[in-house]
Amino acid sequence: MRKQRKTEHIENYLKSTYEGDPLFSDIYIEPVALSSYDFDEMTTRKEFFGKELNFPLLINAMTGGSDETEDINDDLARLCHHLNISMATGSQKIIFEEEDVKQSFLTVRETAPQAIIFGNLSARESVEEFKEAKELLQAQGMQIHLNTVQELIMKEGDRNFSKTRENLENLRKELDFPLIVKEVGFGLSKKDIQELYEMGYRNFDISGHGGTNFAEIENTRRVDSDFSNFIHWGIPTAKILLDMKDRPEDMTIICSGGVRSAEDIVKAFILGADFVAISGEILKYLLYGGYAAAYNYIESLMLQTKMLMHSLNVKSIDELKTIDYKITGRLKEIS
Ligand code: FNR
Repeated sequence: MRKQRKTEHIENYLKSTYEGDPLFSDIYIEPVALSSYDFDEMTTRKEFFGKELNFPLLINAMTGGSDETEDINDDLARLCHHLNISMATGSQKIIFEEEDVKQSFLTVRETAPQAIIFGNLSARESVEEFKEAKELLQAQGMQIHLNTVQELIMKEGDRNFSKTRENLENLRKELDFPLIVKEVGFGLSKKDIQELYEMGYRNFDISGHGGTNFAEIENTRRVDSDFSNFIHWGIPTAKILLDMKDRPEDMTIICSGGVRSAEDIVKAFILGADFVAISGEILKYLLYGGYAAAYNYIESLMLQTKMLMHSLNVKSIDELKTIDYKITGRLKEIS
């Protein structure tokens, strides 16, 4: 069942047609004609969990758990290895149910022995499962996903979330490695993040609305009922970044949910993100165009990010935080 669901998530993602809007286009910024840097001296390098990466990009959680997803994970890990970026695997829950699927995750560490890799489980799994999932990947840490809307749309999904907070408190207490709490495309709200911060969490992947749409993906798996109303549900990614601008210094915000272009990436950093993550768009390039297309896509994101930085007259990713911007349109209305 779970194996088949993994395949359907990939297939239905590729079939999805709804174009969400993370609202980056409502951020207005101005280029500087009088830029003053030598392009070759500029850098997009940035540290992530103890390692300096060529580009502040995490290939976000997607898959693992079957032969075909093993090939995808292998390709994603190769991208990480060759481009010196980082990645997270998809949910590892399936390794506790089926013995023969472990290789589909293990391949990630074998292919990218030096990469910063995060494993992934839901906020409802146990301390022991988190430890085992991390161990399997020799991961630097684990992502903890919150996905209530997705579960509710799934016919076979979880229904009881009454113990999630208690479990999150316990995970925080018992696990001594880096943890990133994330959503899957509906967005972590400011309130969620504040509550999780009080529990002791420090790293958040906002996964806002505007990119991969799990309401649509799961709705395509339902033939008995229509949940398309939920396709619009979620907090636009740029809105969450604005909400989190004045945050404690020890909080890390990873921006994901509809990040597609170098302009999105630059705007995410202008709005205060510490790191960005992309899932869907990389998967599309990989499955429609093959490894070379996915490689070229990420390489061109790196080049164009640097070009935009040059045009804004900053020479490092961290300096983007200093750029002035105006908020327009719907983003202004809802912020
Ligand atoms: C996902 N995502 C995801 N997230 C997670 O925490 N565990 C998972 O197993 C999966 N599985 C998964 C499968 C597929 C096919 C996609 C496209 C995505 C969600 C992902 O990590 C991310 O939060 C969202 O996709 C939003 O980012 P993008 O796709 O808009 O860049």
